[in-house]
Amino acid sequence: MLAQEAVEAVMTRADGLYVDATFGRGGHSRRLLARLAATARLLVIDRDAGAIAAAQQLAATDARVTVAHARFSELTTLLRERAWWGAVDGILLDLGVSSPQLDEGERGFSFQVDGPLDMRMDQGQTLDAAGFLATVDAEELELVLRQYGEERHARRIARAIVAARAIAPLRRTLQLAEIVKAAHPAWERHHHPATRTFQALRLRVNEELREVEQVLPQAIATLASGGRLAVISFHSLEDRLVKQALQRATRGVEEDLPRGLPVTPQRTPACMREIIRQQAASAAEIADNPRARSARLRVAEKL
Ligand SMILES: C[S@@+](CC[C@H](N)C(=O)[O-])C[C@H]1O[C@@H](n2cnc3c(N)ncnc32)[C@H](O)[C@@H]1O
Repeated sequence: MLAQEAVEAVMTRADGLYVDATFGRGGHSRRLLARLAATARLLVIDRDAGAIAAAQQLAATDARVTVAHARFSELTTLLRERAWWGAVDGILLDLGVSSPQLDEGERGFSFQVDGPLDMRMDQGQTLDAAGFLATVDAEELELVLRQYGEERHARRIARAIVAARAIAPLRRTLQLAEIVKAAHPAWERHHHPATRTFQALRLRVNEELREVEQVLPQAIATLASGGRLAVISFHSLEDRLVKQALQRATRGVEEDLPRGLPVTPQRTPACMREIIRQQAASAAEIADNPRARSARLRVAEKL
């Protein structure tokens, strides 16, 4: 299982300082705690109130655990507050939505269950999917569907959404799924026509790619020598960001100078080494959980 592989790869010392930056319902944290000594510490982070309630229950029974209700892009601040900065032995990032977020219709992430068009991971955030769809113009919506959903029919769908909201406000997930289905010219095998639209809206509402872009350099910087970062991503847009950040860290970066200047570009040296380049879920895991089909695990160690 990718979860087990991530936990095994990230753990280098039993008495270390660890961060699970995407607690969810704590599957990874529990696996890690089972392997850690009584003197180890685990900081768990999530932006979802339901995840935090579950984390607090765990912390009440396990003194090694502390909980932060925050975005993981605030990692530096969270670690400095605890005097952990620069001393972390392992960081786990399991990106994307959790099963409870997807399965509970009221959260609005699913195009298969009726619910309000919410899609906020952090229920305290002001912008939700309905709010975004009420005001966005057709050009920006098209761009969001194209960039975050890699939706080939972005223009048709964006126009259909804007036309539909002029007749009645968009409030429900199944209402939106029907509009997208009607605008979509073709069924793609394995995919409901609204799959890409819902992914795009979710990424936009939660600024998910920006969060990933911001947390990776912080995670890399805060690891102690020998400390490890394990990231599981669930689609190619996230995985590309992880791959690029780890490539920069494992190969070093050459200063970007205009061509033809008579100076040698400075090179920032590598600060990590690759442990797992790109691991997919096993066939058995995919059979058990089809959502794991596009999951990828990457692990690197601080030099
Ligand atoms: C795939 S789930 C993690 C599942 C977890 N590993 C488990 O075993 O239960 C991702 C979790 O990360 C949280 N999350 C996603 N982006 C976040 C961010 N930028 N800051 C904090 N939490 C985030 C989500 O709310 C969700 O609970």
